Amino acid sequence: MGVGDLFILLIFWGFCLQAHVAISQKNDTCNSNDLRALEGFMGSLDSGIEGWGFDNTSSSSLCCSWVGIACESSRVVELNLGKKRLNGVLNESIADLDQLRFLNLSQNSLIGQVPMKLFQMKKLETLDLSYNDFLGVMTQEIDLPSIGFLDLSENSFAGTIGTGICLNSSRIQVLNFSMNYFTGTFPVGFGNCTTLKHLVLHSNSLSGNFPDDLFSLRNLNRLDVQFNQFSGLLSDRIGNLSNLVELDISFNGFNGALPNVMGNLQKLEFLSTDSNQFNGTLPTSLSNSPSIKVLNLRNNSLSGPINLNCTSMVLLNTLNLGSNQFHGPFPDSLSSCQKLRSINLARNNLNSQIPESFKNLQYFSYLSLTNTSLHNISSALGVLQHCRSLSIVVLTGNFYDEEMPSDAKLKFENLTALVIANCRLTGLIPQWLSGSTKLQLLDLSWNHLSGTIPDWFGGMKFLFYLDISNNSLSGEIPKSLSKMESLISRNISFDEATEFPFFIKRNQSARGMQYNQILSFPPSLDFSDNMLTGQIPPDLGDLKQLHRLDLKQNSISGSIPSELSGMKSLEILELSRNNLSGVIPPSLNNLSFLSKFDVSYNNLSGKIPQGGQWSTFPNTSFEGNKDLCGDYSNPCSRPERIPLSPTKTRKNTIEVGMVLSIGAGFAVGIFVFGYTLLFKESWRYAYFVFIEKMHRGISMFLKVKMAKAKEYFRDKAR
Ligand SMILES: *[C@@H]1O[C@H](CO)[C@@H](O)[C@H](O)[C@H]1NC(C)=O
Ligand SMILES: *[C@@H]1O[C@H](CO)[C@@H](O)[C@H](O)[C@H]1NC(C)=O
Ligand SMILES: *[C@@H]1O[C@H](CO)[C@@H](O)[C@H](O)[C@H]1NC(C)=O
Ligand SMILES: *[C@@H]1O[C@H](CO)[C@@H](O)[C@H](O)[C@H]1NC(C)=O
Ligand SMILES: *[C@@H]1O[C@H](CO)[C@@H](O)[C@H](O)[C@H]1NC(C)=O
Ligand SMILES: *[C@@H]1O[C@H](CO)[C@@H](O)[C@H](O)[C@H]1NC(C)=O
Ligand SMILES: *[C@@H]1O[C@H](CO)[C@@H](O)[C@H](O)[C@H]1NC(C)=O
Ligand SMILES: *[C@@H]1O[C@H](CO)[C@@H](O)[C@H](O)[C@H]1NC(C)=O
Ligand SMILES: *[C@@H]1O[C@H](CO)[C@@H](O)[C@H](O)[C@H]1NC(C)=O
Ligand SMILES: *[C@@H]1O[C@H](CO)[C@@H](O)[C@H](O)[C@H]1NC(C)=O
Ligand SMILES: *[C@@H]1O[C@H](CO)[C@@H](O)[C@H](O)[C@H]1NC(C)=O
Ligand SMILES: *[C@@H]1O[C@H](CO)[C@@H](O)[C@H](O)[C@H]1NC(C)=O
Repeated sequence: MGVGDLFILLIFWGFCLQAHVAISQKNDTCNSNDLRALEGFMGSLDSGIEGWGFDNTSSSSLCCSWVGIACESSRVVELNLGKKRLNGVLNESIADLDQLRFLNLSQNSLIGQVPMKLFQMKKLETLDLSYNDFLGVMTQEIDLPSIGFLDLSENSFAGTIGTGICLNSSRIQVLNFSMNYFTGTFPVGFGNCTTLKHLVLHSNSLSGNFPDDLFSLRNLNRLDVQFNQFSGLLSDRIGNLSNLVELDISFNGFNGALPNVMGNLQKLEFLSTDSNQFNGTLPTSLSNSPSIKVLNLRNNSLSGPINLNCTSMVLLNTLNLGSNQFHGPFPDSLSSCQKLRSINLARNNLNSQIPESFKNLQYFSYLSLTNTSLHNISSALGVLQHCRSLSIVVLTGNFYDEEMPSDAKLKFENLTALVIANCRLTGLIPQWLSGSTKLQLLDLSWNHLSGTIPDWFGGMKFLFYLDISNNSLSGEIPKSLSKMESLISRNISFDEATEFPFFIKRNQSARGMQYNQILSFPPSLDFSDNMLTGQIPPDLGDLKQLHRLDLKQNSISGSIPSELSGMKSLEILELSRNNLSGVIPPSLNNLSFLSKFDVSYNNLSGKIPQGGQWSTFPNTSFEGNKDLCGDYSNPCSRPERIPLSPTKTRKNTIEVGMVLSIGAGFAVGIFVFGYTLLFKESWRYAYFVFIEKMHRGISMFLKVKMAKAKEYFRDKAR
């Protein structure tokens, strides 16, 4: 058991203790019917419930003192078992708690149908069954006259959504049916839930359009229907929902113009229509909305100029108009939206420069202008450096064939991520970047940058993702890189929230929403496709936290340092198409997370290490090395001879020697050696089974991470 596990256990234990203390203050005896119902419920679970036990010494039992239960006059009125890791089915007995007002079984592993009787509890006010695996269809006959809060989200309910609840539940305020498999249209009938405040239906497969009666919900303040298949025009009558605070219809198929009724939605703070097919121009009521804080119209077909009236839009802090057909010039007026923190105008045709007035945006921290036909990078950076809070800047796909500014006075002290990829920029990796001491992520790939990789990268305390691939960089890999703190130990606390506020995406596996963060990028050094020479500095082995090292397509020579085995977290090692010679150091066996390894097209020789993850690498990882032999198409001739490279270190030699003697020991069958070997082999087998499993997990994880990373840089046209 690791220290981490112990820590979690301790926390858990502490939590249990606390729960006990809080509840045992109350009268402990409970009604015998209630006791029987609880017994029945507990009996239907596969897991026990910690802290539930029966007292056989007296006639009435002490169930009111059990964890998660609250009583009033001996009757159970509250059952709060959220996140207790319960598993099993939910049987009807629980519905016999006829005084129950609060039932929370959220975040367990409960399965099966929800028993009908549960939907007939007269006193129930709160029912939270979220994050379980309940299935089946929703009953139309719901008789919960007291219910105010019903959460069935993240289960496996299917079929159509029933609105029966609106007939008998005159107090309902919150309905959350999100993240299920509901199909069919948006049902008619919610209009009778006149007290409804939150209607959350996102991440299902609902289609059609909004029914008319929806627009009669005057109290509605949150309507979330993102990630469904709704289509058609968005009715003007949405303006009747005058209490809306949050409207999210993203990732559906709505089309036509955005209704010009935002003037009626005077409380609207959050509007997202991301990824629909809206066209036409920005409605004036929207571009003058005094209440909007977050406006996300990304990935539609909106056109015309971006003419927000910042005199009216005083609260706007997040603006995402990316991937539309808005045209330039760059909206000068934006600079008067003083609260703006984040702007994404990527993939529109602005065809201009960043205006001088942007200097005024003092709270401004996130900017993406990918593929917006900007020009004049010198002036762009000159302006942006005045935005003191700027943290994330993405300028990919602009400024074609310009020169990277080298003005030593440029200063971006609060920058955490800079992406200027795919711009065909000439010049050098700029010295002024060394002043951005908070930098975590730098991507200057796919440019025409020349010169060497600067030494000062080694001193960048927080930098953990460095992609300068596909340039014309020359010279050697600086030894100083082995000092990059963030790649040695990552227990650095990142003070600021570094969330990319956009790219909210449905996570395929968990069906949840997901925010991309800088921290979700894998720690990487990508120097591929340059003209680097010299040797791989052995000290790079110190980078224990590095996940990906890509040096392919350079002119790197010398041997592969056995010290690279120190990169304990390495998942991808790409060394193909260089001039590397010598053997593949057997010490690389220690890289237990390695899932991709490529040394093809070098001058390597000797035997490919055997066993473990080595058997999972394809032959193409080794081809194009004349003197390399092993399992693949070029078997080693016997007797085996492992040429030792002249630059090999002592440690390496010893390890090769060990492998040889163990091999010999096995062949000759010397007892002592054989015994050791057996022990070692069985241990190793278990280890590799474990590692295999880890690999699969990790490489899936990495794939997801890389996919996420690629999403930002999609337009690099690789
Ligand atoms: C606890 O409840 C029982 C049964 O209703 C009752 O007889 C007893 O008086 C109560 N005790 C206290 C301290 O309230
Ligand atoms: C619930 O399950 C338990 C254990 O299987 C059983 O004893 C009890 O009778 C069931 N109750 C109902 C109402 O089905
Ligand atoms: C309950 O009864 C069992 C045996 O019937 C006994 O071992 C146990 O100690 C009793 N529990 C209490 C709290 O008295
Ligand atoms: C139910 O419990 C979960 C986990 O403890 C908690 O997150 C959730 O807010 C609770 N639901 C209600 C309605 O209180
Ligand atoms: C509504 O409640 C009444 C009386 O409580 C009941 O007869 C009726 O079946 C309920 N309707 C639904 C749809 O559950
Ligand atoms: C469902 O939506 C309600 C209302 O907005 C919210 O309070 C609740 O936390 C949501 N449930 C989950 C599991 O997110
Ligand atoms: C509300 O329910 C009644 C039936 O009880 C129905 O006649 C009426 O059309 C419903 N109203 C709406 C707005 O759906
Ligand atoms: C509802 O919206 C329609 C269309 O925008 C409008 O004609 C009507 O007056 C609105 N009704 C109310 C009560 O606001
Ligand atoms: C953009 O929206 C379309 C639907 O209009 C969707 O298919 C596509 O996946 C979206 N693209 C992104 C990157 O979200
Ligand atoms: C918007 O799209 C609709 C169909 O979805 C089309 O009929 C209409 O002409 C389009 N309007 C503009 C301004 O492109
Ligand atoms: C911008 O908003 C201000 C304040 O609401 C208003 O006086 C002005 O007329 C608006 N300008 C335009 C062009 O709509
Ligand atoms: C920017 O950095 C400076 C110096 O490191 C710091 O004083 C200032 O608070 C930062 N500003 C923001 C908004 O983070």
